[in-house]
Amino acid sequence: MFVPFKEILKDAYSNKYAVGAFNCLSLENAMGAIQAAEELRSPIIIQLAEVQFPYSPMEKMAPVFIESAEKASIPVCVHLDHGQSLETCVRAMKLGFQSIMYDGANLPLEENIRNTKEIVRIARALNVDIEAELGKVGNANSEQDNVSDIFTDVDESAYFIKETAVDALAIAIGNLHGKYVATPQLNIERLQEINNRNRLPLVLHGGSGTSFEDFKSCIHNGICKINVATAIQIAVTNKLEKYFKTVSNPNYIDMKYQMVEASKEAVIEHMLLFESNGKA
Ligand code: 13P
Repeated sequence: MFVPFKEILKDAYSNKYAVGAFNCLSLENAMGAIQAAEELRSPIIIQLAEVQFPYSPMEKMAPVFIESAEKASIPVCVHLDHGQSLETCVRAMKLGFQSIMYDGANLPLEENIRNTKEIVRIARALNVDIEAELGKVGNANSEQDNVSDIFTDVDESAYFIKETAVDALAIAIGNLHGKYVATPQLNIERLQEINNRNRLPLVLHGGSGTSFEDFKSCIHNGICKINVATAIQIAVTNKLEKYFKTVSNPNYIDMKYQMVEASKEAVIEHMLLFESNGKA
């Protein structure tokens, strides 16, 4: 069933767990993710990022996401991840995405605020919820992004939230997208400061490869949405590699089942860490 982003996050924030937001690039990813959520009775966010459109076009994936959400027996939110322009965000709203992340993190603060505010204004009219990013969640394979001066500033976070009235804020505390070279050490103190100052649902991007301890500290200190993409892709790739190595007569249908199964297993593993099981 469709449940609004704000509602899913409100429950997670009050009850100190996180909802997994899983990037689904295929039908198999989406099927596996929803099966995992139903099996664990967990709410779930399924999402697609703009950088993923070249191989998973939004217009083709939207009907899959929406049908999955409508038919599911647990709360599902269909979310656009890292929308890079107003045009993309509006396209997603028209397709039925219930929430949008506008990513203006690379822009100067005032420009990020201006753009985010404009998107919030449109979203409110259409009953769509908005996540924005402050600080910069970079890439694990970029040396430039492995530095602390891209962390979210506490004072700026309060100013940004007051100005834009967003529903959730993605923060940078040492988290990075992609495959970490070494397990990251998140700055939990910074997270606590941001949470104490704002009391707004916070989002952790770059969930794949985070340590058990950091996940726990995050979900008990205001992080109530955790994005996971790379871990699912790795799980599917590894499963297929094993399948082709061990099966003498591989076939396409079995391969598709393997992909669904691997997606499901990866999502289950993360939901248990996020303590969202049994919350639906
Ligand atoms: P990972 O690929 O590192 O899990 O990051 C996912 C993400 O944050 C998507 O926005």
